[in-house]
Amino acid sequence: MTQDELKAMVARAALDHVPHGEVVGVGTGSTVNKFIDELGCIKDRIVGVVSSSDASTARLKALGISVFDCNEVGEIAVYIDGADEIDGQGHMIKGGGAALTREKIVAAQSRRFVCIADESKRVDKLGKFPLPVEVIPMAAQRIARQFAALGGQAALRAKDGQPVITDNGQHLLDVRGLSIDDPLAFESAVNQWPGVVTVGVFAHQKARVCLLGRPDGVRTLTFG
Ligand code: 5RP
Repeated sequence: MTQDELKAMVARAALDHVPHGEVVGVGTGSTVNKFIDELGCIKDRIVGVVSSSDASTARLKALGISVFDCNEVGEIAVYIDGADEIDGQGHMIKGGGAALTREKIVAAQSRRFVCIADESKRVDKLGKFPLPVEVIPMAAQRIARQFAALGGQAALRAKDGQPVITDNGQHLLDVRGLSIDDPLAFESAVNQWPGVVTVGVFAHQKARVCLLGRPDGVRTLTFG
């Protein structure tokens, strides 16, 4: 089974976690794109969605799904999103698709985070995937030095020789070489650094459920 097929399988399985008559939080990425396509088939059963990126919003709207702003809705029943890494407690690294800030905002407004991922994302310890950090551009070099002091090598995310600009108009650092022993403490600490918009560790907004795609089927992991 290909990685793409595993993603399609968990995207389909996620429909069982979509409550009828509610607003659903929708993440970003290739796995979520498959979930959005599935959601299009049951769009009449939900009130609409809150989206975590311009890319997801465009795809949702193209399918005729109503997209609300976070400020237009109260608590969101469920947030469904992918991950770059997920550990045995439901802590994640996210932001490979540059949408980490809005993803964390929608996750914080949601009762339950359901992570959809293929089995390659399951790790014992976070940190092998380069950690995405959204930063205010004028602070990028200082923040990179702060990561260097922790043993990390930070690089500005760029495309075609230009810095990638997030949906919020900011830059991204990708930090290699970190070993994140205590995700909660790490997230809290980096959040305090001036100029950090969002760090891609999702420990305070961790997954409650992970639908993990494996060749023998979808395994449901639950976290306390
Ligand atoms: C986007 C994300 C994605 O959830 C993460 O990068 C996983 O993406 P994919 O489903 O394409 O593997 O955090 O910012």
